[in-house]
Amino acid sequence: MDYKKAVQSRRTFAIISHPDAGKTTLTEKLLLFGGAIREAGSVKGKKNSKHAMSDWMEIEKQRGISVTSSVLEFLYDGYHVNILDTPGHEDFSEDTYRTLTAADSATMLIDAAKGVEAQTKKLFKVCKMRGIPIFTFMNKLDRQGRDPFELMEELENLLGIRSYPMGWPIGMGQSFSGVYDRHNKKLELYNPENPKEIDVIQLTGPDDPKLDEAIGEEGLVAQFREELELLDVAGDEFDPELIAKGKLTPIFFGSAISSFGVQTFLEHFLKLSPAPTPRESSKGLIEPLENQSFSGFIFKIQANMNPAHRDRIAFLRITSGKFERGMSVKHVRVGKNLKLAQPTQFLAQSRSIVDEAYAGDIIGLFDPGTFRIGDTLVEGDNFEFAEMPHFSPEFFSAITVKEALKHKSYEKGLQQLTEEGAIQLFKTYNRFAEQQIVGVVGVLQFEVLEYRLKHEYHVDIQLERLPFSFARWADGPAEAMDAFKKSQRNLVTDRDGRIVVLFENEFQMRTAIDKYPEMKFYENSFIKSNS
Ligand code: G4P
Repeated sequence: MDYKKAVQSRRTFAIISHPDAGKTTLTEKLLLFGGAIREAGSVKGKKNSKHAMSDWMEIEKQRGISVTSSVLEFLYDGYHVNILDTPGHEDFSEDTYRTLTAADSATMLIDAAKGVEAQTKKLFKVCKMRGIPIFTFMNKLDRQGRDPFELMEELENLLGIRSYPMGWPIGMGQSFSGVYDRHNKKLELYNPENPKEIDVIQLTGPDDPKLDEAIGEEGLVAQFREELELLDVAGDEFDPELIAKGKLTPIFFGSAISSFGVQTFLEHFLKLSPAPTPRESSKGLIEPLENQSFSGFIFKIQANMNPAHRDRIAFLRITSGKFERGMSVKHVRVGKNLKLAQPTQFLAQSRSIVDEAYAGDIIGLFDPGTFRIGDTLVEGDNFEFAEMPHFSPEFFSAITVKEALKHKSYEKGLQQLTEEGAIQLFKTYNRFAEQQIVGVVGVLQFEVLEYRLKHEYHVDIQLERLPFSFARWADGPAEAMDAFKKSQRNLVTDRDGRIVVLFENEFQMRTAIDKYPEMKFYENSFIKSNS
């Protein structure tokens, strides 16, 4: 296949949402449209813990939730779509954040009755930091939700992003009758009796009498026309450039459970979302279309997806070029050549060997323990991609091993889990007795840590929760730094020896910022791939 064509047809994105907004449902509908699965309900059996496709780890099976994130791919209308799935549970890990570094755009899924919720806000922040385009799908219109104008206001007030509704709903909940596609002037009718059957009517515009005929209820139609006029007059204009910069989010309305609005969303999304985007590296921007030699970076390492094999999989985002099975690449950090003989791509559990893949695709590499998050692999060149951000944990525990004799295995396990990015490990700074502290983004990671150390390294640990909620990487001129170090009690060092300060609450943090104006406190660090 023509290289440029192949790359241009790739769309790699992540769905960000708060638990229960309907991410699994939407993902499943997208896969159904792409023919990647045949029946609904096969992405994951929640709650009753049926065999879920992404339930790799035992702990996931036990709890019936998805702890790890996976990659799903499907073909639609000539596009090759990669969905980076992020955990749907409240307790997520740094993986969730890092997965977003491999995405070129994001779809923010919002429950129209709930609006912007906590987890969506956190994930949005990471997308905003990267400046990627963000699409919004307002879900569950079949239920009574919030006023669409109010939802738009919330996007602006809570997330700081302007929006452009691509469609506008007619009624909601009991009165939900359909969505008008502002671009194509099409009316999609919602039939509550048989929601999967969607009638589409081509209109000349919102004033077309066919609309009155189709909806039937005068009041609803009048309200719809009034709202649409208000949007046309007072709303933002459609601006693809602002969308591309992540400054304007196109909004779609629908009901994922009844597949309503999903296809319209998908079709607009594929046209508006970017093909694989460039990434910053030590030799400048690596443009996928201009660089035909292979390069990529590891953004996630997952251990023991299949407990029977006890293997580790490193997920690599191809940044440029074409991957071919058996090819030799350079593992830049260690300066060695590697043969990529056994890569796998995932439709969850059914692993299949990939023979070729292009920029934008994600491949899973069997990892005998040589990879780290942020590692660069290149063909015939020698550069490294920019460091991978490392986010502030929100939960902290002091960690000790129960049996001193197992210290070696304990250290090995901790090192592996740190390399995978499942946990962050800190050491107390300048204390009489050095103490190890584990930081995680989602509290569930403590359980994962305990479980994995016990099952993979046969080590029992003791965790003692600490009252901190924020970690900030501290930096400043030498003198200020010295004064700061002497005065602070809750200082730790990260695995690269950098000084990090732990705060219990915002108030403590503010006080430190005010007291040490010369100091800088960073919310995220960077994982140095050569550390
Ligand atoms: P998540 O992955 O974001 O956590 O959400 P998931 O898709 O599992 O959906 C959460 C709940 O919301 C599910 O109901 C699902 O059926 C429901 N849901 C998803 N989309 C829609 C929608 O468009 N309209 C309505 N009314 N509901 C929707 P549940 O009762 O928690 O689970 P289940 O028993 O239906 O699986």
